[in-house]
Amino acid sequence: MTENKEDEVISEPILRVEDVSKSFRGLRAVSGYNLALREGEILGIIGPNGAGKTTVFHLITGFLKPSSGRVYFRGKEITGTPPPRIAKLGLARTFQNIRLFDRLTVLENVTVAAQLHTNYNIFEVFACLPSFRRKEKRVRDDSLELLKLLGLADLRDRRVDGLAYGDKRRLEIARALATRPKILLLDEPAAGTNPHESDQLHEMILSLRRTFALTVVLVEHDMRLMMNLCERLQALNYGEVIAEGTPEEVRQHPDVIVSYLGTSGTTQSAVN
Ligand SMILES: Nc1ncnc2c1ncn2[C@@H]1O[C@H](COP(=O)(O)OP(=O)(O)O)[C@@H](O)[C@H]1O
Ligand SMILES: [Mg+2]
Repeated sequence: MTENKEDEVISEPILRVEDVSKSFRGLRAVSGYNLALREGEILGIIGPNGAGKTTVFHLITGFLKPSSGRVYFRGKEITGTPPPRIAKLGLARTFQNIRLFDRLTVLENVTVAAQLHTNYNIFEVFACLPSFRRKEKRVRDDSLELLKLLGLADLRDRRVDGLAYGDKRRLEIARALATRPKILLLDEPAAGTNPHESDQLHEMILSLRRTFALTVVLVEHDMRLMMNLCERLQALNYGEVIAEGTPEEVRQHPDVIVSYLGTSGTTQSAVN
């Protein structure tokens, strides 16, 4: 993955976004956005509220169609492809506003997602054939394994509407992983968590990347997490990328200091 720097430089990006824009009733939410995502990297997107970060995720994962521009996954165009098909190709995301099935259990939320890759045929389902039961068992076992990795195994039978906020955020990640992604896009996974949980999230993302050979795109306001975890940052403001580079380069970029961090470069008044 990340060890082989030479491969990274010469290989085709796993995801390429070319000059993508999105307007809502004439208002530009994202403007001329470009991204060449390297396989295995952790890329962070920062920017004040309303900068267009979530819209970029919607555009990549098919929840919104770009007004113009193109998106490619492993060289194949996926612009405008519906979300379930994009998920099946290997892009999974979490949502800034958590979207879980509140009345289902923790385990059920993951098994529903895990079924994306399970090819049941209608006959085996109705006849409840051994092949069907085997597939069901595999889905359940895989889902339980994910819950373990995310520290949620003890909560497997709890209904989601009774969960603590941090647990819901981790369950969203487990559910995204159940679709067996190559690229995981996380929209503010540390929102509402304390510094200790943020450190845990840092370790968890690194370990999940190793285990599942993931490429990660992370939107977060937690600058400590972003500076320490991401190998590359993009800063968005008013829908445009105003800086891109190593976390240190982006942090020191004059436009970022003015637009995002506050003029002193140390305050985070514009954040949240
Ligand atoms: N569905 C929508 N309809 C109209 N405007 C939207 C919609 N979604 C986002 N916007 C606008 O697009 C801009 C970018 O929003 P968003 O991508 O949510 O920003 P961020 O995630 O960086 O906070 C904002 O001005 C927001 O109000
Ligand atoms: Mg957002």
